[in-house]
Amino acid sequence: MNAEDPSVNPESGATRTMPFHKYKPFRPLSLPDRTWPDNFITQTPRWCSVDLRDGNQALIEPMTPDEKQQMWDLLVEIGFKEIEVGFPSASQTDFDFVRKIIEENRIPDDVTIQILCQARRELIERSCEAVAGAKNVIFHLYNSTSALQRKVVFNMERSEITKLATDATEIVKRHTEPLIAAGTNLTLEYSPESYTATEVDYAVEICDAVMKVWEPTVENKVILNLPSTVEMGTPNLYADQIEYFIRNLPEREKAVVSLHTHNDRGTGVAASEMGLMAGAERIEGTLFGNGERTGNLDIITMAMNLFSQGIDPGLYLADMAKIVSVSEECTKIPIHVRQPYAGELVFTAFSGSHQDAIKKGMAFVEEGGDSDWEVPYLPIDPSDVGGHYRETVRVNSQSGKGGVAFILENFFGVTLPRPLLLEFSPVVQALSEADGGELKADVIWNAFVSEYIEVEGPYQLVDYQVHSENDEKETCQATVQVAENTVEVKGAGSGPIDAFINAMVETLNEPLNVVDYQEYALKEGSEAQAICILALNDEDGEKYYGVGISQNTTTAAFKSIIAAINRKWR
Ligand code: KIV
Ligand code: ZN
Repeated sequence: MNAEDPSVNPESGATRTMPFHKYKPFRPLSLPDRTWPDNFITQTPRWCSVDLRDGNQALIEPMTPDEKQQMWDLLVEIGFKEIEVGFPSASQTDFDFVRKIIEENRIPDDVTIQILCQARRELIERSCEAVAGAKNVIFHLYNSTSALQRKVVFNMERSEITKLATDATEIVKRHTEPLIAAGTNLTLEYSPESYTATEVDYAVEICDAVMKVWEPTVENKVILNLPSTVEMGTPNLYADQIEYFIRNLPEREKAVVSLHTHNDRGTGVAASEMGLMAGAERIEGTLFGNGERTGNLDIITMAMNLFSQGIDPGLYLADMAKIVSVSEECTKIPIHVRQPYAGELVFTAFSGSHQDAIKKGMAFVEEGGDSDWEVPYLPIDPSDVGGHYRETVRVNSQSGKGGVAFILENFFGVTLPRPLLLEFSPVVQALSEADGGELKADVIWNAFVSEYIEVEGPYQLVDYQVHSENDEKETCQATVQVAENTVEVKGAGSGPIDAFINAMVETLNEPLNVVDYQEYALKEGSEAQAICILALNDEDGEKYYGVGISQNTTTAAFKSIIAAINRKWR
């Protein structure tokens, strides 16, 4: 035995393995003639937010009344038309909240509130009290139907569980009659809880039995919500369960098939998407998937997935930062930096080759090369969710010159000539390697300033005057600080730059040739600044870049010359 082999238990000598024999593969049904894989999602489903119920029930610290109000306002603002507002028969806070939004007239006419209720008489009665006076209500009734729950929790036969559901439906029907008479538009939603662990034929049977009692019509349908209360298998199996249900449900046209997936295997979104392909029409979920255990279906991701396929998501998600901040505040759970469409890093490229491709893709889009969004590595335009293209590129030790160029251009309006970029990138690379982390835009800028603009060295421009002698000749007289001394220099040339260079050459007594020069405006308007990027060659052919910034173009140029000379002497 090798005592250091991590796959071997050092005490027993047995090979270490996980206890996988404890688990059985999930094989809910056989549906070889399934049709859903050939379907595409072409329209947005009816969304129902369950943030204030399923999401809230799963929090370490449930939402306070104020937080519930804040979350409600956000959900309405985003555009949800169906919102599960709580479990009023089980929680006084939920009861009070439902009463509050009804009595304070906070429910827009086109929004339906949904309340959850277990299949028990006294809870049904209390729920009816809670929703009295609301214009549009979905009464969401549920009971567990899975083989496991029937056996270990209820110790009941299928027929007894069915009776429990139908009796409860009858009670809901009777107790909601006065509400309907008083003007409430009331819809029944029935959930065979733990649907994924329920035999599909039995799920159809119990839903059919509930429908027979409720007597929905094509105009006033019942909602049948098929929860993946615990995600048990790959999402295609859930889609099979949905297709089977829809094919076999009698009077299917009188029901809206709704999905409510959880995320135990990390495929809650995929399951709902495939369930939609299998014919479902309505989706329940929460913002960012907050919910029991690994959470509920993440409605933001699913809606944005539709959006990215050119489908109107039916929700307004443009102010993603606000949605994140309200969610974080109400749930006290931070949104992960890699949360699809919303996390801090989800539109960010650190890798040089990705940055380069994004830059080229953006240039292509901006030139109008294609009316569609086609930018490598960016599935959507970050500005559609309130982001900015310039946040897509961030620099660390894995980024190349493209990242540096991007930051200087997009944050500071400075485009470097390629030789200067090649020269400056290693400076940034060294900084990021020393730092070990990300270099923010201002750190890169400060490095650029101390390398090329405020260069330490013997020379400093104190003052200058230029005169035009004629069209071809200008003279320059300047005061230059050279170490401890102040020196007056004088020169003439074809323009001010030429004149100043000549003045400096006389003082320095060595040749300096301008070999690269560009000057452009940095900012528009009254604060307009000019930047001059200039390179000088010395007598050995060595090239020194210097950069000057000023509101005055001549000053910018003179500063760039001084910076370049200082770099030579450095
Ligand atoms: O996950 C679930 O099954 C539920 C039901 C009450 C719909 O939340
Ligand atoms: Zn749930």
